[in-house]
Parts: sequence; structure tokens; C-alpha cells
Amino acid sequence: MAFGGAAPSARNATSRAKERGRNSRTRTFYSGKWPDRLGTLEPVELLLRSRQRSALSLMVLAAPDWSTIHLPSGPSSARSLPPCRAVGRPEGLVVDATAGLGGDAFLLAVAGYEVLAIERNPHVFAALQLGLRRAQEDAKLARWLGGRLRVVQGDARQLLRELEDVAAVHVDPMFPAKKKKALPPKNMQELRRLVGEDLDSCELLEAACAVAPRVAVKRPRTASPLLEGPEAVIRGKLVRYDVYLRRNS
Ligand SMILES: C[S@@+](CC[C@H](N)C(=O)[O-])C[C@H]1O[C@@H](n2cnc3c(N)ncnc32)[C@H](O)[C@@H]1O
Repeated sequence: MAFGGAAPSARNATSRAKERGRNSRTRTFYSGKWPDRLGTLEPVELLLRSRQRSALSLMVLAAPDWSTIHLPSGPSSARSLPPCRAVGRPEGLVVDATAGLGGDAFLLAVAGYEVLAIERNPHVFAALQLGLRRAQEDAKLARWLGGRLRVVQGDARQLLRELEDVAAVHVDPMFPAKKKKALPPKNMQELRRLVGEDLDSCELLEAACAVAPRVAVKRPRTASPLLEGPEAVIRGKLVRYDVYLRRNS
């Protein structure tokens, strides 16, 4: 089956999904096991019933292409970007507890940190894993990454408790949907439709503060902090990072 192409195949896929939908009560038509052959296809297409709509819809979640991330002076440019400034200069493991499509985790690894990126949504994780595999096959990206980025599927609220010597945690929960604002890039729109809002992000932040001496949380520029009293605030043009220090001691 060809993926990522012409409208007729999308129409066929939609009617097949509708047919299966009549016989199934499951929410997704991609049943979880990721067939190896999908590893060669781009974009990754997942046919899902949208969370926020009762109607069926074709959702396209492309594997991330980190070669499009603009780093004008190479890997060293990553260090001055907000995720790396927010995480500071930890010695040891940096956990990206909300990996999503891995853009921030990529920057952290390129900046020289040892990174473990955790993603709980299985469909998003599949796209992330594919993006990492492609980056490892690209000579320049593989050199920049230096084998420092690992990805794992699971809920960071639990997995963080099982990790030792976490030096810092990066948290970027899904922002609340904006009203009447410019739409985010297509893949972020699909991510939002797949994941919805991360309503348990306070719990995640508490779990992170319990294990790491430094936790950086990405927030919309004017939103209130997820937890009171961050020790530092790093403001960017579009987002803000709230930084929490040593709450576990
Ligand atoms: C806004 S996206 C992150 C985007 C990411 N920083 C990037 O650069 O692509 C939030 C992601 O965090 C994931 N997430 C939220 N809570 C989580 C948790 N407790 N454990 C693991 N993943 C979580 C969601 O499934 C979603 O994919």
C-alpha cells in the first residue's frame, strides 16, 4: 500500500477505515504494533478516529526531520537556544519527559547532553523513533547527536521514579489551544489532535521535581506557572521557561 501520496488512496483508506469502524469499538485503526515495513515510508500516516471529533478523520503524523532545524553555526548554536539555557549545565542525564516529536530532545543532545526522551503516546512515539532512526542514518546529524539521544515509550510520571542520577528534566506539556490565533505548523496540529491537552502536567512536574535538582518547564509566554514560585524564569519571544531548583532535597 502506498502512503503519503495521492488523494484517491487517502479516500480508499478512509472508506476502509469507516468499514472497520462499523465493526470495531476501538478508537484507533492502527492497532499499536508498528509493522517494520512502515519504517521505510514517509510520511508516516496513521488513520485514527480523532479524539475531539466523533467523525472519522485521516490524520497524518510525519516522522520528524531534524535536518530542518536551523543551527547556523552548527551544533554550538544549540547551546544558546532556550531549551539548553533552561536546562543549564547539568552533569549527568537530562530527561526530556515530554518528547513529542523530539525537536527539543534533539537540541539538547546536539548541545552535548546525555538525553533520555520519554513519550507516552504510542503513535507519537512511533513517529519519534522513526525520526531518530533517520537522523542516525544521516552522517551529519549522527555526528551531531554523537549517540547521546535515546528514546523510550512510557509515562514519565512513572519512569522518572525508576531512574537514578537524573541531573535535569525538561518538561514541555501541550499548551492549551489558542483561540483565533495563527495555526501552528501542520505536524503540531496533528500532534495536538492525537494527544489532546496534557491535563496531568502538574503531576508530571511534581514527579520531576522529586527526582531532579533542576526542572525546566516550557510555558506559553503569559500563562501562569504550573507550580508556584519557580526559582528562575527564562523569557523567549514565543515561550517562557520556568526553572525549579533542588526541591527534592
Ligand atoms: C508539546 S508536546 C512536546 C513537544 C516536544 N518538546 C518537541 O520538541 O517536539 C507534548 C508531548 O508530551 C507527551 N507527554 C505529556 N505528558 C507525558 C507524560 N507524563 N509522559 C510522557 N509523555 C508525555 C505528549 O504525549 C506529547 O506528545
